[in-house]
Formats: sequence, structure tokens, C-alpha cells
Amino acid sequence: MVPKSYYIKTIGCQMNIYDSERMAMGLALMGCEPAPYPEEADLIIVNTCTIRFKAEHKAFSFLGRLSGLKRKKPDLILGVGGCVAQQEAEKILSRSPFVDLVFGTYRVDRLPEMVKRVAFGQRPLIDVSPVEQAGAFGLMEGARAGGRAACFVTIMQGCDNFCSYCVVPYVRGRERSRGQENILKEIQSLVDSGVREITLLGQNVNSYGKKERAGSFPQLLSRVNEIDGLERLRFTTSHPRDLSDELIESFGMLEKLCNHIHLPVQSGSDRILRAMHRQYSRRQYLERLKKLRYILPDIAVTTDIIVGFPGETRGDFEETLDLVGHADFDGLFAFTYSDRSAAPAVRLPGKISEKEKNERLQKLLALQEQINTDKNQAMIGSTVCILVEGFSKKQHAGCGLLDSAPACRMEWSGRTTTNKVVNFVCEDPTVDPNKSLTGGMVQVKIEKAFSHSLWGRLVRIESRASDSKGERNYAA
Ligand code: SAH
Ligand code: SF4
Ligand code: F3S
Repeated sequence: MVPKSYYIKTIGCQMNIYDSERMAMGLALMGCEPAPYPEEADLIIVNTCTIRFKAEHKAFSFLGRLSGLKRKKPDLILGVGGCVAQQEAEKILSRSPFVDLVFGTYRVDRLPEMVKRVAFGQRPLIDVSPVEQAGAFGLMEGARAGGRAACFVTIMQGCDNFCSYCVVPYVRGRERSRGQENILKEIQSLVDSGVREITLLGQNVNSYGKKERAGSFPQLLSRVNEIDGLERLRFTTSHPRDLSDELIESFGMLEKLCNHIHLPVQSGSDRILRAMHRQYSRRQYLERLKKLRYILPDIAVTTDIIVGFPGETRGDFEETLDLVGHADFDGLFAFTYSDRSAAPAVRLPGKISEKEKNERLQKLLALQEQINTDKNQAMIGSTVCILVEGFSKKQHAGCGLLDSAPACRMEWSGRTTTNKVVNFVCEDPTVDPNKSLTGGMVQVKIEKAFSHSLWGRLVRIESRASDSKGERNYAA
């Protein structure tokens, strides 16, 4: 029987979030509807990630939990997609023999067809062939927005950088860019359906279009910036080596481009950067930061750091701490190095113990925590403009406010142009409580600061989701 409902579990990066949305679009076209819980679905897809051991483990433990469900409901179709599927199809089937479908990262658009084949008895079905398909950048029309204020749009797939620790080039293949017209069309349809912020996605967006001569990334940004009704534009991720002057200058020129860049440095030691095959030095990285801040002094910069890379001495790690102390990041994602069998660093000598890696991680996180708190504290009393994305997580956790308080006192959530999460309450009696603030641009006065978020009260609604020009003020 062809499934009527589906549940997708997404693990991993924004690419996987985007791919899960593509899967959902395909399933919707075959009349399959989303189920709120795995227990209620006829089809469960696990979209997996293998960037670190922990991400892969998460997929296997989720699959383990599904085995009972499969026993109770033999007709249930269980599919595994994403980067673990691409690389470890055999391992998935040997550890979880009840899985019906394993499909790779190149096969996202063929999901409906594969599900039908499984439903008609062809199981297990495995398709992980790394073959580029015509519809790999298939258009996703605005329906996927589903009332959201912000969406991702993939502009390229794969990666050619081959950092020595990383599996991405092996599970996502060589870098390939999507045509500009195709990207613009998708963004236009999202904006038409109410989306106000777009994040352009790629492993290294700076090299967008180079191979295909599809135009440069700064050119693409300036075209997206022209789209009427779009309020904000972001992109991720940038490789520091390819952060051109032209791209840096875009921050000063494009009014929709947000004041934030995610620029992973990975290490503060030149020796380790070389071993990681990052192709820039500490000095070059800091020089790029200086130039960014010269063009846009209040730009927020976030980064990724790996601690405990093979051969990383205490001295190398001190250099990372020193860089973090000086670079004034607005946030960092820190990871302990994780051996991946496909990545060349697996063969490097000088592996660091888990205990030592974790100690280094804690030290680094504590340093950045202090920097974040100080930066956020300095924002108390200021008024910031945010794009409302919905209720704050607290509301979703069912704190009770939702039921008892009038709607205009609900706690909402959004982000500043610098990508800081702001939760806020709206106490203005003139605000119509039946009208959602989601998708609106609002001014919020900051009253409390935490290390990873800010809290405040609404001062003014600049625009609602419905007024694309953003001229109306609802409350003075
Ligand atoms: N393309 C992006 C990042 C992709 S992966 C870029 O180059 O910046 C996201 C982050 O995971 C990386 O920035 C890196 O910090 C981390 N990472 C990748 N492989 C890892 C590994 N083997 N162990 C630990 N962290 C890893
Ligand atoms: Fe991985 Fe490096 Fe490519 Fe990023 S740039 S995806 S870290 S190989
Ligand atoms: Fe993970 Fe694949 Fe993304 S390995 S980080 S889901 S590209």
C-alpha cells in the first residue's frame, strides 16, 4: 500500500534540512501528508549526517528505537537517506535489517518513485549511486514555506576543498553550482508566499559559479538583493581562503544583506591549519576579519573550531585560545576532532585522548561563553530590529502562558540582523492579538541578556508579514 502519511527525522546541517524539505515536497505531490509523530506515520525517513561520530550514532540509535514500531506495524516503510546512507548503506542494512529503503544524497528527488517501488514489494531497495541527476536542483515552489518567515535555498552542492578531517567531499561529491535563474525563481516563489528572509546555502558559497561560469557569488547576491518583498538575505558557509574583496564590499553595498558572517577558522595554529589543509594562515584569517570590520564595523562574526586535531599540542591549542581571545567572535561552534574513515586525517599520527579533547573543548567554550555574555550584556537598554519567526521555544515547551495570557502577552522569538536570538513579549493593547507577528519586522527594547539569547519588550511594529513594503506602523 502506498503510504498516506510520513515523518522525517533530520540530523545534520542546513543542507539536510533543505533536502528534507525537498523530500517532503515530493511526498506531498504523491498525496502523502506529514504525521506529527513517527508512531502515526506509514513512512518514516531518517535523513542522516556523518560529519562526526556522534551525528552518525544519533541516526543508529533513532533507528534502533524504530525497530519495535516496525515489529508492531509490518507495513510501515522505513527509509534512510543523507550522508550515512551515501557512505554506509551496507552497515545500515546489517545493523538495522528491518530498513526498507536506503538512498543517497544524489537521490533526494527520486524519493517518491523509490517509495512506490518499496510499497509494491521491492524491498530492501538501495540506491546510493553518486550520479548527478537532471532534477538535482529541482525547483521547490513556495508551498514549502508553510507560513515561515525565513527559509534556506541551496545554491551549490558538494565541496572541492578536501579539508583533511572532513567527509563532505566524499558524501556530497564534487562542487557544482545551480544556475542563477533557477535560484532566483525559487526565491521569488518563496517571497510570494510570505518568506522575508533567505539564507543561501553551500559548503563554500564564495566559489559559487566558478566551474560553471554561472556568474560570481557577489553578482548573485546583488540580484537576490533586488527581489521585491525580500527583507533580509544571509549566506553560509564561507571559506576564509576565498573570501574575496568583492564579497566583503557587498556587505557595505547591499542593504538586505545581514550584518553577519559565519567564517569557520577551525584552529589558531598555522601548523594545525596546514595539517587540516585549510589553505590560509592565522594572519590571513585575521586580515580578512579586519577588512570585514573596516567595511562594516558592526558585523557579527561567528566561527567553527575543531579541538584535538591529530598532533595538536598544548601550544597549538593555546594559539587557538589566543585567537579567540583577540578575534571578538559573536559565537562559535566548537567540536572535538572525530576520526572519519573516509577522511585522510584518520591516518595521521598523534591522536589526542578523548579526555584531553574534552578538557580543551570545555576551556574553549568557557572562554567564548564569557565573551558572548559580555557582548550581550552590553546590549541591555538598546532597541533592536528583529524579524519575528514565531513563538519562543519556551512557548512551545508548554509553559502555560499560551493558554492563560492574552495573545499580545505571548513570548515571541526572532533574530537581529546580526543573527542574535531575541525573545520578547508584546504588552501593547493596541496590537490585535488575533494577528500573528510571525514574518513581521519589529523593534524590541532589550532588558535581559544571556549567553545565547536576549530578552526584551516590543516597542514598535515596523511591518507585518502582509505589507511587503513595510511602511505601516501598527502601534506608536
Ligand atoms: N563547509 C563548512 C563546514 C561543514 S561541516 C566549512 O568548511 O566551513 C561543519 C563543521 O563541522 C566544520 O566547520 C568543522 O568545524 C566540523 N567538522 C567537520 N569534520 C569534523 C570532524 N571530523 N571532527 C570534528 N569536527 C568536524
Ligand atoms: Fe568540509 Fe572543508 Fe569542504 Fe567545509 S570546506 S565542507 S570543512 S572539506
Ligand atoms: Fe552532515 Fe552531510 Fe551536512 S555529513 S554536515 S549532513 S553535508
